[in-house]
Amino acid sequence: MEPVAPIVKFSSLKKRYGAGPWILEDINLAVAADDFVSLIGPSGCGKSTVLKLISGLSPGTEGGLEVLGTTPKQARDRQAFIFQDATLLPWLTAQRNAELPLRLRRAAAAERAAKARAMLDLVGLAGARDYYPRQLSGGMKMRVSIARALTLSPQLLLLDEPFGALDEMTRNRLNEELLALRERSRFTALFVTHSVSEAVFLSNRVVVMAANPGREHGEVRVDFPYPRPAALRGSPEFLAKVNEVTQLLHQVEATS
Ligand SMILES: Nc1ncnc2c1ncn2[C@@H]1O[C@H](COP(=O)(O)OP(=O)(O)OP(=O)(O)O)[C@@H](O)[C@H]1O
Ligand SMILES: [Mg+2]
Repeated sequence: MEPVAPIVKFSSLKKRYGAGPWILEDINLAVAADDFVSLIGPSGCGKSTVLKLISGLSPGTEGGLEVLGTTPKQARDRQAFIFQDATLLPWLTAQRNAELPLRLRRAAAAERAAKARAMLDLVGLAGARDYYPRQLSGGMKMRVSIARALTLSPQLLLLDEPFGALDEMTRNRLNEELLALRERSRFTALFVTHSVSEAVFLSNRVVVMAANPGREHGEVRVDFPYPRPAALRGSPEFLAKVNEVTQLLHQVEATS
């Protein structure tokens, strides 16, 4: 059988801005189609930079990076980026915000309206389509942002601390919803977070990064089957994984 091409493949990648210090050194992360990978590590270790490199927003300095079998830039149409703030346009309704990527691709009006409506339904916002961002809670705004990203049916979803600003209950609910969406849409996910329990709940692989320069320090595999029930969070096996990741983070913090 042919080996399955990885969705993301870093080869000894190094990154610096101009003549500045090395931000990333020797990254060799490989992400497979079925993976939900979380990146966790101290502030400034380069997690957002890793996502920016993949999305083609920023070039590597040395080494290689393949995304979806090609260069990051050429893979742009098949990936979507979700930021910490929902980045909605305040003068557009939820529906219009969700339609925006399809509009930029010049999709027909009927098609983009139907697709955006379907995605807003999926994230539980059928009743809020005509609301403006100021009428939406933080969790609802993030749902619009996710719906907007999914209208393009991305193969790869990059999420940079998307739920960092939300209260814990809302965050937990959105974690469950994100996994449910993934059951339907089957995207590969790369997720940046500062929350160990969020990383463990969502991912099959948690990659712990160290800082100065940013590098992979270790990885914890999380083999709980999907879909994962909310009650998983209370199980001893779950807490054992949380401890494993926390210990790697302590090692990293002691050395950086
Ligand atoms: N455009 C830029 N020009 C110069 N340096 C940059 C630029 N963007 C990021 N950096 C530097 O790169 C390093 C990594 O930044 P990055 O934002 O990737 O970290 P992070 O792990 O996402 O941090 P946080 O957890 O705080 O979001 C930092 O030292 C930062 O100052
Ligand atoms: Mg960041």
